[in-house]
Order: sequence, then C-alpha cells, then structure tokens
Amino acid sequence: MKNNKIIIAIDGHSSCGKSTFAKAIAARLGYIFIDTGAMYRAVTLYALEHGAIKSCITDEDMIESMLDDININFRFNPERGASDIYVNGEMVEGKIRTIEVSNCVSAVSSIGAVRRKLVAMQQQMGRNGGVVMDGRDIGTVVFPDAELKIYMTADAMVRAERRYKELTAKGDKVSLEEIYENVVSRDKADMTRAISPLRKADDAIVLDNSHMSVEEQMEWFDREFNRVMES
Ligand code: DC
Repeated sequence: MKNNKIIIAIDGHSSCGKSTFAKAIAARLGYIFIDTGAMYRAVTLYALEHGAIKSCITDEDMIESMLDDININFRFNPERGASDIYVNGEMVEGKIRTIEVSNCVSAVSSIGAVRRKLVAMQQQMGRNGGVVMDGRDIGTVVFPDAELKIYMTADAMVRAERRYKELTAKGDKVSLEEIYENVVSRDKADMTRAISPLRKADDAIVLDNSHMSVEEQMEWFDREFNRVMES
C-alpha cells in the first residue's frame, strides 16, 4: 500500500488526447501536470522566431548554440486550471500550437542537445513526485522508475479529426488532409528517431481511446491508479 505521491508517466502518439487526460488526472489527484511536448514546441517556436529554422530546415548548430538563451518555465493559470508555458517571460501557449510549429517540432525534438536540456529540466520538476507528465519518453528515459506508466494511442484518422476540430474552432485555416499527414508523419518521426524514440515501456499499460469518452478513460484510470496504490 502506497501513501506517497507517485510519478505518473504518460507517453503515446501525438493528438491522442494525452494532455487532456493528464490534466484531468492531475486535477483529480491534486498533482502537478507537466506537458513536455509544450517544452519541445517552445524551443521550436524560439528557433523559428530567431532564424534557426527556414522552410522547416533546421540549423542544428544554431539551435544548439541558442539553448542557453531559452528560458522556459510554467506558471499556473487558475482560469484554465493548468499551467501556461513561458519563454523568456512571454506567455506562448497560443503560439506553440500552430501548424507551423507542429510541422517543425519533430526535427527540433530529434536534436540530442535539445533533448538533454529538456530531460534534465523535466527530471528536476518531477523529483519530488506528485506529477503527471506527458510526452514520448517519460516512462522510458525521463522517469524509467515511474510507479504508473500509461501508453496512449488512438487510430490516426480519429486523432486527425480531433485536432482538425480544435484548430478550426480557433479559426485556423487548415484542411483535414493536411492535419492527417502531419499526424502520420509525426508518428513516424517520433518512432524512428535515433535518440529516445517513442516506444512503449515494457511495464507500461496501454490505453487505446479511439472509441472511449473522457468519462470512460477516467474510470479506466481510477481502476489502474487504485491497483498501483494498493500494491
Ligand atoms: O505532445 P505534442 O504533440 O505537443 O509534442 C510535440 C512534439 O514534441 C512531438 O512531435 C514529439 C516531441 N516530443 C518529444 O520528442 N518528447 C517528449 N517528451 C514530448 C514531445
């Protein structure tokens, strides 16, 4: 029986609702939610704004030399019930979710120096437990000893349709085909990159939410969480 606050690692494909799920769990448990994808997006945004990515071609040396100038932090936003991400004091939650950033983030997240910096920050943020961290390598690299590891996935077209709805609701002019291609190409890039590719940790449990409501996912989580805490 555990009575301490544990680390919950959530990895999986892009756009399968990891952040929504992780945020809901964190709120329910009173844990801190950390969206590590937002951190890779923040570095990508900075690189785009400072000329280190042109037409999605990344200048790896330039990005590496910029890393010390990129100060990332999260501040809790009570209106959203989650933390907003800041780069050098600027709140960039909106700017990091554009299709331009989505198209370039895989390339940036495959740079070793970028991963080393962000992984070290993530380990620091989660060192006392009581965190729900979502990403691609949380259960395999960042916290290989996390007490509860969840590997989330969903059908690629279901994911594309979800993201399409989100982006068009914000007024972005995008097509479903474009989003679908982005989802499929990011899956491939995430799973085949040389450093820390996305893969299910051996001790992770799989949640395929293609045909599950948020409520059903929360019921599933409660069962798994109780099982871990009682062990
Ligand atoms: O979760 P997301 O789609 O916002 O993540 C953006 C990108 O960042 C994704 O294409 C892969 C990368 N990423 C990563 O390599 N490692 C993580 N821990 C989180 C995200």
